[in-house]
Amino acid sequence: MSASPETPRLVVFASGRGSNFLALVDAIRGGRLPARIAALFSDRPGCAAVAAARELGIPVVALRPRDFAERAGFDRALFAGLAAFEPDLLVLAGFLRILDPAVLEPWAGRVVNIHPSLLPLYPGLDTHRRAIAAGDARHGASVHFVGAELDAGPVIAQASIAITPDDTPETLAARLLQEEHRLLPAVVALIARGRIALRGAAVHLDGRPLAQPLQLHEAGLTLS
Ligand code: GRF
Repeated sequence: MSASPETPRLVVFASGRGSNFLALVDAIRGGRLPARIAALFSDRPGCAAVAAARELGIPVVALRPRDFAERAGFDRALFAGLAAFEPDLLVLAGFLRILDPAVLEPWAGRVVNIHPSLLPLYPGLDTHRRAIAAGDARHGASVHFVGAELDAGPVIAQASIAITPDDTPETLAARLLQEEHRLLPAVVALIARGRIALRGAAVHLDGRPLAQPLQLHEAGLTLS
């Protein structure tokens, strides 16, 4: 698909399977996401996301953390290659690494992450097991602007699903992943169309602050 020079440019960060990355690719191909993917960045050169990007002809930048003496050195090296791709938005889609706030700072307001919980519930790992163990009725996924802290920063939108009595972390994760694949492209599309922006600490939709995260329904993202 051809893209005009004004088409917003995404750099996607992924560490594993890459299904959310591929959901973005699909949405672009299907005309639901007016953007282009300028590159895939990864901390795991052997991961499926990297292989998929190569197959699609999307430029890949993948470095190994173990090749660097210190954490911050890896983050600096990875981000050193970023500006060359002229990204408008960085999308962390299953990027399993906490980045040094110093490298993110210049990109403030231009980085989003998808996290598999109804934030502020369950930042960090193992979210599906934790939601079941807590006896929660519902579980979900959040797309948020990235702040200095782990899985924190203003939430833009959420998708939620019911937890059933026979759910295991695996069944719950699989069901939620289908929702993530709709949620992430829908949110990125709103940002690409200039409808969502971070102003100060507040997410704005069409110039007005959002009182609560957008919710994903059958018809798409809605205010409640
Ligand atoms: C997703 O559940 C995402 O929410 C989390 O990591 C997982 C990545 O899956 N941050 P994939 O690599 O996109 O398939």
